Amino acid sequence: MNEPDSGERDTIVARRSSALDGEVRIGGAKNSVLKLMAACLGAEGRHVLANVPAISDVSLMCELLEAMGVIVTRDDHRLILDVPAELHTEAPYHLVERMRASIVVLGPLLARFGTARVALPGGDDFGPRPIDMHLRALESLGAVFSTEHGDISARADTLTGADVVLEYPSVGATENVLMAAVRAKGRTHIHNAAREPEIGDLAGFLNAMGAKVGWAGDRLRIDGVERLHPIRSDSGYRVIADRIEASTYLAAVGMCGGSVFLRGAVADHMTMLIRKLTEMGMHIAPDAAGVQATATGRLVAADISTLPYPGLATDYKPFLVAMLTMASGVAIVTENIFTGRFRYIDELRRMGADIRTEGHHAVIRGAEHLSGAPVRSHDIRAGAALVVAGLAAEGQTEVAGASHIDRGYEDLVGKLVGIGATVSRS
Ligand code: UD1
Repeated sequence: MNEPDSGERDTIVARRSSALDGEVRIGGAKNSVLKLMAACLGAEGRHVLANVPAISDVSLMCELLEAMGVIVTRDDHRLILDVPAELHTEAPYHLVERMRASIVVLGPLLARFGTARVALPGGDDFGPRPIDMHLRALESLGAVFSTEHGDISARADTLTGADVVLEYPSVGATENVLMAAVRAKGRTHIHNAAREPEIGDLAGFLNAMGAKVGWAGDRLRIDGVERLHPIRSDSGYRVIADRIEASTYLAAVGMCGGSVFLRGAVADHMTMLIRKLTEMGMHIAPDAAGVQATATGRLVAADISTLPYPGLATDYKPFLVAMLTMASGVAIVTENIFTGRFRYIDELRRMGADIRTEGHHAVIRGAEHLSGAPVRSHDIRAGAALVVAGLAAEGQTEVAGASHIDRGYEDLVGKLVGIGATVSRS
């Protein structure tokens, strides 16, 4: 597996590209694989994950698991995790700080060892991201928390199944409590659980490890088991496709025109996005192997409002905003998940986009042209959206801070070049 670039060569240079065509392979989902890796902590033995993307967040999660005593082997898109009987049950600040998702080790560590110490994650570019719901949900199962020196210490002599009520369907809180409840005594129901496809992937993985997880109407039902085991398959557990990576290439086709096959993309995980792109004038044709995306002519504006799944994911928003900057008409975009997630809009304005923001709303008036400019990537998806916008802008766009993009993309540049885009790394 190639390690993503870092350090030097931290700029991606995009030039106006004509219609895209060909095929791009969609990799395993970042937001799933990180949680599956954490779930492996729940059982001693050799775990094998397949379709693992070569992204730097996976490398960071490997570092965290190694710090706990796991032996990690990466081999092409396979990841082998040898989890020993004893683990060092601590997630240190220097790793948690670099990747908030590390907080999901709390649930599996508590379930297996009855103790865990995890550094409190700081804020990030989307503003503060509290973990109060994670902690309250785990408390419902009997965990006790204390905070000292910036770390959360968790203890649970026994975890007991309970009715856990999430006031908001938080993805991370659902995952943490799910990974704890699989080994709790008795039955847990998670009310108002998140329903993202990545939650389904985690539930499927845990079931393959011997857990008993299923939906009971609108609740997630977990019957606790004594112990879990690594999945019994030599080829390993295959991570689901990354719907957010797929949305990146859908946006590139929307902005540049052309027709591209997204091999491995799962249309059923992107129903709302596909409806929205169709409303904007794209033609999306799913089949068993992926999704064919076609765009001819200028896109038309459509209003966007982000919501928990099955609503439009907040992670799609930078791509939709980029597309709307050149669509005909005016669109209102409403962010309902992370209120601070509009920072990249200043960068798009530097490229000539007409966008006004007011609180968690943005009004976008589509322009005939964007004009290439030096811009900066502040987070994974916003950075990729700037690259995509650069493919439609006149002249050259230099996106600095490409290492942010590497956190979630395997070879964004290579894949775009493969479908005819003019883009390089420098
Ligand atoms: C995950 C995804 C992220 C995606 C998000 C929403 C990963 C690694 N990241 O993030 O890409 O954008 O889901 O689909 O999978 N909240 C609280 N208290 C909590 C937990 C969350 O107030 O204890 C708030 C957050 O501040 C945010 C909202 O709930 O406003 C949604 O957060 P959540 O669903 O938990 O997102 P993450 O799991 O952090």
